[in-house]
This record gives sequence, structure tokens and C-alpha cells, in this order.
Amino acid sequence: MKQYILCFLALVCGHAAAASPAEPPVIGGLERAVTEKIAGAVLVSELGCTACHATTQPAFAAKSGPDLSAVGARVNAAHLQRFIAGPSGVKPGTTMPDVLAHLPDAERADVAKALAHFLASLGKPAASAVPAAEAVARGRKLYHSVGCVACHSPEKALSGSVPLGPVAEKYTLVSLAAFLQDPLAARPSGRMPDCHLEHFEAEDIASYSLREQKAAAEVFQPDAALAARGKTLFAQHRCDACHSAGDKIVAPSLPALGKVRAGEGCLLERRGAWPHYPLAENQRASLRAALADEAKAWEAAAMVQLTLTRLNCIACHQRDALGGVATHRGEYFTGREESLGEQGRIPPPLTGVGAKLKAAWLREVVANGAGVRPSINTRMPKFGAANTEPLVAWLKQIDTLPPAKFERVQPAAKPHNVGCELAGTKGFNCIACHTFRGRSAAIHGPELTTMTERLEQNWFHHFLAQPQRFAPLTVMPGFWPDGKSTLPGVLGGDPGQQRDALWQFLAQGPEAGEPAGLVLEPLVVEVRDEAVIVRRAFPGIGKRGIGVGYPGGINLAFDAAQMRLGSVWIGGFIEASGLWRGQGSGQARLLGKDVVDFPPGSAFAVLESSTTAWPLLDTTPGLSPFTFKGYTLDARQRPTFRYAPGAFTVEDAFTECRDPAGKLYLERTLKILNPPAGLHFRVAVDKLIEPRGANEFAIGKNLLVRLPAAPLLRDADGARELLLPARGELKLQYHITTTP
Ligand code: HEC
Ligand code: HEC
Ligand code: HEC
Ligand code: HEC
Ligand code: HEC
Repeated sequence: MKQYILCFLALVCGHAAAASPAEPPVIGGLERAVTEKIAGAVLVSELGCTACHATTQPAFAAKSGPDLSAVGARVNAAHLQRFIAGPSGVKPGTTMPDVLAHLPDAERADVAKALAHFLASLGKPAASAVPAAEAVARGRKLYHSVGCVACHSPEKALSGSVPLGPVAEKYTLVSLAAFLQDPLAARPSGRMPDCHLEHFEAEDIASYSLREQKAAAEVFQPDAALAARGKTLFAQHRCDACHSAGDKIVAPSLPALGKVRAGEGCLLERRGAWPHYPLAENQRASLRAALADEAKAWEAAAMVQLTLTRLNCIACHQRDALGGVATHRGEYFTGREESLGEQGRIPPPLTGVGAKLKAAWLREVVANGAGVRPSINTRMPKFGAANTEPLVAWLKQIDTLPPAKFERVQPAAKPHNVGCELAGTKGFNCIACHTFRGRSAAIHGPELTTMTERLEQNWFHHFLAQPQRFAPLTVMPGFWPDGKSTLPGVLGGDPGQQRDALWQFLAQGPEAGEPAGLVLEPLVVEVRDEAVIVRRAFPGIGKRGIGVGYPGGINLAFDAAQMRLGSVWIGGFIEASGLWRGQGSGQARLLGKDVVDFPPGSAFAVLESSTTAWPLLDTTPGLSPFTFKGYTLDARQRPTFRYAPGAFTVEDAFTECRDPAGKLYLERTLKILNPPAGLHFRVAVDKLIEPRGANEFAIGKNLLVRLPAAPLLRDADGARELLLPARGELKLQYHITTTP
């Protein structure tokens, strides 16, 4: 913080920042590098040396800098200008060198300004909002559990953490949420991996990260002439060695890394006609050693160690003596199932993983972050194929196990039936601890029906024979102690054949028959005396759905992308195994019956006359400004949605009520602030809309709405449309008329 203030002053009052020693670059895995050789190579790549000095050493490939082709939409330009003028002053620990360090103060400020105008001209900032207190609280919880603090500091600062810098002055809520949802788009190096955040999760973590932000930053107007000069300066100062700004990155033209004099240039503390790195003395030493060894060949085992260190996989995983969850970060690795022990919260070790996982699945895991352990709260991130591809080949090459000896069970002995029996309660009861097509008796261990797709058959045999050899603390029992089966009556008690029967049974995948004793309990989300909110994908809505179950048994799904009511239904709320058993994917399944769906499209529009057609919703990404503002909760946890579908704001609240006959219905209160002239609210579209009484309409088969005023009922494209003039406060009732 102190350094940041100093630098800010430096811009106002000259070169004061140069006097304070800048913090050396912080690289996540560096402190835990197992050899000096690896530490040196990590520094060379993370500091981008070979972006300017050519090399023939594959281990030295430079990390690419952020893609700047749309940086104006992502980052506040006033902040950019300060950062460019003195990177490590504004963001202590950054890996970006000070390229302008050698310029006299005035020129440096001038160049930084032109560069900022150029970068600001690349992409326009979207409208944004300030963080809401509830989102901050949810975000704080997520930030400390999904894996961010494996690399970054928790709220109580921990040294050795990858710095985040002054994010509150750099990003808006919208731009940070967009970055967190797809960090590889902006930072293709994969050093900041994709943690599979759902839209709302990204928004919550962004809200938490920007919790100090009081008002959105002032809008920065790029000046065309300055921007044009900035574009030239961008190439002149070799910013394009590390950054793409839409144009191709140029090949290095400076002395090759094998030719530089290691005591000169960028390795000096002194500033000169080269980028300045505020290196620590031991970092300089590691770099010098790396330069001296540039020509030496790297073996696959060392390349694996280097890659795991560089991408900081070792913050979460242990592989032999390398890395593992650090004790002082251990409390942030949590799980949802205590019965799984440490395996329910700590990411699996990577020792021998090349012999364990099939190449295709291994690739799926490291490139896309696929997983099978929903009980672990920390997520295996997505690092991108380009950043991990060679790793898969190296792991497959160096991790080996001798072939397991076993006799294959012949078809005549019905291996599928035998395997099914072994997996069930009359056999080894694998289904007590592993899910089987998403269902499990007690413990949600890795899914059985996808095991043969993921695991090498050879490893399966070795592992089942001696689970403790592979995972000393596992709760997975050994079924063949001292090589003898605990079920001597099956296949003559032959361990190899029993394991093969299990394999052949499981290899049927989703077609495998159900083992005896499988419990088919679905995961029902119960609603009791308070409303329950589930924010995930809903049928017909997509990812930005918000389901609300109200006490008594009436429910709705709201579409926060289009800001409309999606469905209402009566009875049970949702079944959610699709949400929690696969990591974050899948949809909620609506329980209950008589689901009434409303058609997609905008719920509000300005109509010039009563014959103007209802406009189509423009869903072009980036065009429709972000306007869903979240929700507040009342004492019984019922949400009031807030959104701005245009230049006006809507507050939208539902309450469960009972009619004189005791039947539940939903009362909706819409408060519309500053509506433009001609604004209408679309209540419903259906082939069947019929008046039933004063301002009462039957819609489709199961819905009756009661409106506060006379609506406009008109034909629209083969259906009928029910519209209300939208201003002030509107109260509507939704009654579901159950089919007998
Ligand atoms: C943005 C481009 C750029 C990057 C990145 C860069 N350098 Fe340099 N480097 C230069 C320039 C420019 C010079 C001065 C060249 C000259 O005087 O011919 C230089 C000079 C050097 C020299 C002295 C060369 C000599 O023989 O006089 C060394 C050593 C050096 N750099 C090492 C590094 C290391 C190590 C890194 C990474 C930590 C690095 N450089 C990153 C541009 C870069
Ligand atoms: C495996 C380590 C790792 C994990 C896990 C990780 N990050 Fe990062 N993060 C990094 C690194 C390294 C960078 C800097 C990347 C670069 O140099 O391009 C970074 C950059 C960032 C930035 C950009 C900072 C800036 O100056 O603009 C933000 C914001 C951020 N991370 C937030 C998060 C959040 C939130 C999470 C969890 C959802 C997370 N990170 C998970 C390693 C990680
Ligand atoms: C040696 C490689 C290198 C060079 C040369 C370099 N940068 Fe960077 N730059 C980076 C890295 C790495 C980051 C990410 C730093 C971080 O997150 O701490 C970065 C970050 C940035 C960012 C923030 C982008 C974002 O999305 O958060 C901007 C803007 C930027 N650089 C502009 C420039 C300009 C302008 C120049 C030339 C004056 C330049 N850089 C030269 C490596 C470089
Ligand atoms: C933020 C913590 C985190 C980071 C960083 C991380 N992982 Fe993971 N990894 C996990 C978790 C959690 C799992 C378990 C996921 C599951 O199965 O649901 C996992 C699973 C895996 C698996 C599957 C292992 C098995 O036996 O099934 C592999 C392989 C793997 N990670 C490799 C990597 C590599 C390589 C990197 C770096 C490029 C990396 N991980 C970085 C958390 C992390
Ligand atoms: C008492 C509980 C329990 C029983 C019974 C059990 N397992 Fe496991 N099993 C586990 C746990 C816990 C793990 C470790 C999960 C992890 O790595 O996260 C595991 C791991 C495995 C793995 C490695 C999976 C992977 O991807 O890492 C295989 C294969 C496996 N079990 C097969 C079986 C088979 C086949 C049976 C029945 C013959 C069985 N298990 C019975 C608890 C059990």
C-alpha cells in the first residue's frame, strides 16, 4: 500500500518512486522450485526474457503478457497510465518490467500518457455498478474456497502470494467479472487459470474483490492524435514483444540469450536502455546460472517439474517431493464430505499420475479442468490446451508401472454379471463409497461407471491390489489382504480374475446393470419456513437462472439474462443432482407439476402505438449493457430482484399468498422508476388468452392472472399478447389452476 501511494506521488511530483526499493517480482511456485536450474528457467520464462532475446532452449519459452486487443474495455485507462509509468510501484511484485525506466521523468510521463490513450482506444468500457453487500459476502466465501487462495493471498495477507495490485482502481464490477469468468481470453499464458466460475460466482467474487470501490471510475476519453502516437510508441518501446494489441507479435531482434553478457543490461540494478527488473539478489544469481546453462538439454522429468512449478500446479498438488498444499494455506482447502477424510478436501497427488490416467482424460483434466470429485470445494482449474499439451506426453513417458499379471475372465463365465455382483452389497460393496451413475449409498467417492474411461487398466489392477501403496491415508479398503480374496466363493477367489470382472463390468459405462443395494435417492432441495434460492441453469433459461422456492410449495425461475419471469410451478421445488454431482454443469430439474413457462424475450419495451410489434431482444454479447443489479432479501429470505432493462429501473418482488379457498398463489409487485413514455410490460404471450372477469385472464391451460388495470390484449404473430402500460407500481397475481 505504501509503495502504491509513493508511486502515485511520483506521477505528481516527479521521480520519487525510484528512490524507494521496488518489491522484486513475485512468482507463485518459485520459492518451492526443487533445483536452482528450475528456479532459473522459471524466472527466464515468467519475466519474459526470451520475448526479446532469442533462444533455442525450449525450457525458456517466454510467458506471454496479457492480450491488450480489448484492454480498453477491461481496464481503467487512468490506472493504466500510472501502471505503465512505473509497473512495480503501482503493483508491487508484478512480473512486468519497467520498460520506460531509462527515460527522463517528463518524457516518461508523456510516453505513458500516449500509450494509455492508445490502449484506451482498444475497446469501450461497459456500464457498471458498485458492489452490493450481499454479493460481497457470498464472494468472500467463494474466494476463500474455490482455489483462489492457493495462489493469491487470503484476506489476512500471506507472503509468497501472487499479487493482485489495486484492483479497485483498475477494474469495474462488470469488467472484473468478465475477466474472472474467462481469464484465458485476456491472459492466454494460463498462469491465471480458469476456475470454472458460473456467471453469478464471477460477479460475487468481483464484488468481493472490489468491496472498497465506492463509485465507478470516471470515464476516460481517448484522444485520437495521442492514441496514434501511442500506437507507434507501443512498437518502439517493444511492448509488442510481450503483448498482442491486435497486431502480430514481432520476432526478437536483440542479442540472443546465448550471446548476452550476464553481468550487463537487464540484469543490472542500474537503469539504462533496457527494461528494468527490480530483481532480488538471489533472483539475479538464478538468472545468471540459467544463462550459463542455456545450451544444456532438459530431460522429460525436469520439464515436468518445471511446468508444474511455472503454472503453480504445486500450490494444490504434491508430486513426489515437489509441492503440495502449504500448511499455512491448508485451512482454505475444504470439502463437503468429512467421511472421505483428507481425500475429500485435498487435491489428489500427481505422483505417478501418468501411469494412472489415460492420455485423453489427462488432457481433459489439465487443459479443461475436468474432474470427478464434487466433494472437494477447491476446483481443478482449466489451464488451456496450448499451455499444457506437452505435459501430457511427458507424464505418459516417465510414469510407468510393470504390467499387472492376471487372467482375463472369459465371456462364458459372464464377467459382467460377476462384476455387477462384486460391486453391490453382496460383494465388495463399492457402491457404498462411490457414486454409480450419480447415486450413492453413503459416500460420494469417484463415479464408478466412468472409471474405465479415465483410468489405465494396468493401474486399476495395481491400485485395487494395494490401495494404501498409492494413497497411504485412503479410506478405500483392500479387498485382497495378503493377496487373498475376502470373497473366496467368486471365480475361485482368484484376485486377478475378480479385478478383471469388475473392470469388464464397469467398462460397459452407462449401460452397466445396477448392482444390488444401489440407493436411488434423488437430491431434492427442500423448502421449509423460508424461501430457498438456487442460482444455476434452469430449463428454458440457461446459466443465469435464479430459482426461488417459496414456503408452502409454490416456485418460480427468474431469467437474470433477459430479466424476465421464466416459469412458475406448484408443489416440490427442484431436484439438483445434475448441479452438484457433475462439477457445476447440468440443469436443475423442476419437481412438482403444472409448470407454466413464459416465452423468452424482453419483458419491457417502449411501443409507439398499440399496433407497434413487440421488439426482439438484442442478445448480441457486448451490445446489451449489463443491467441485472442483483437482489435483496426480506426477513423470510424472499428476493426482490433489481434490474435496469434500459434507462429506467425495476424492483420486482414476489410473495406467496393464499386465496380464500386456501390455495397458494404468487403476488408480484413491480416498481418502475423513471419509465420512458410508452413503456409496456408484457404479462404473457400464448395461443390461448381469454378474459375471465374484471382484469382477469386465463393463459394457456394452467394459469390465471389478475391485473391491476385494464391491459391491452392483441394478436401477435399467430399468438396473443397481454400488455400493461408500465409505470409506478403494478401488482399482479399468478394463480396456477392445477389439472385434476
Ligand atoms: C522488452 C525487451 C527485453 C526484455 C523482455 C529483456 N531484455 Fe535484456 N535487453 C534488452 C535491450 C534493449 C538490451 C540492450 C541491448 C543492447 O544494448 O544491445 C538488453 C540487454 C540485456 C543484457 C546485456 C546484453 C549485453 O551483452 O550487453 C542482458 C544480460 C539481458 N538483456 C538479459 C535479459 C534477461 C535475463 C531478461 C529477462 C529477465 C531480459 N534481458 C529481458 C531488451 C530486453
Ligand atoms: C494457479 C494459481 C492461480 C489461481 C488458482 C488463481 N490465480 Fe489469479 N492469477 C494468478 C497469476 C499467476 C496471475 C498473474 C498472471 C499473469 O502474469 O498474466 C493472476 C492474476 C489475477 C488477477 C489479475 C490481477 C491484475 O493485476 O489485473 C486477478 C483479478 C486474479 N488473478 C484473481 C483470481 C481469483 C478471483 C481467483 C479464484 C477464482 C484466482 N485468481 C485464481 C494465479 C492464480
Ligand atoms: C517482458 C514482457 C513485457 C513487456 C516488454 C511489457 N509488458 Fe506489459 N505486461 C507484462 C506482464 C507479464 C503483465 C501482467 C503483469 C501482472 O499482472 O502483474 C503485463 C501487464 C500489462 C498491462 C495490464 C493488462 C491487463 O489486462 O491487466 C498493460 C496495459 C501493459 N502490460 C502494457 C504494456 C506496455 C504499454 C508496454 C510497453 C511500454 C509493456 N506492457 C511491456 C509483460 C510485459
Ligand atoms: C487450485 C488448486 C489446483 C491447481 C492450481 C491445480 N489443480 Fe489439479 N486438481 C485440483 C483438484 C481439486 C482436483 C480434483 C478434481 C476432481 O477430480 O474433481 C485436481 C485434479 C487433477 C488431476 C487428476 C488426478 C487424478 O488422479 O484424478 C490432475 C492430473 C491434475 N489435477 C493436474 C494438474 C496440473 C498439471 C496442474 C497445473 C497445470 C494442476 N492440476 C493445478 C486442484 C488444482
Ligand atoms: C469404504 C469406502 C470405499 C469402498 C467400499 C470402495 N472404495 Fe474405492 N475409493 C474410496 C475412496 C475414498 C477413494 C479415493 C478417492 C479420491 O482419490 O479422491 C477411492 C478410490 C478408488 C479408485 C481410484 C479412483 C480415482 O480416480 O482415483 C478406484 C479405481 C476405486 N476406488 C475402485 C473401487 C472399487 C472397484 C471398489 C469395490 C471393489 C471400491 N473402490 C470400494 C472409497 C471406497
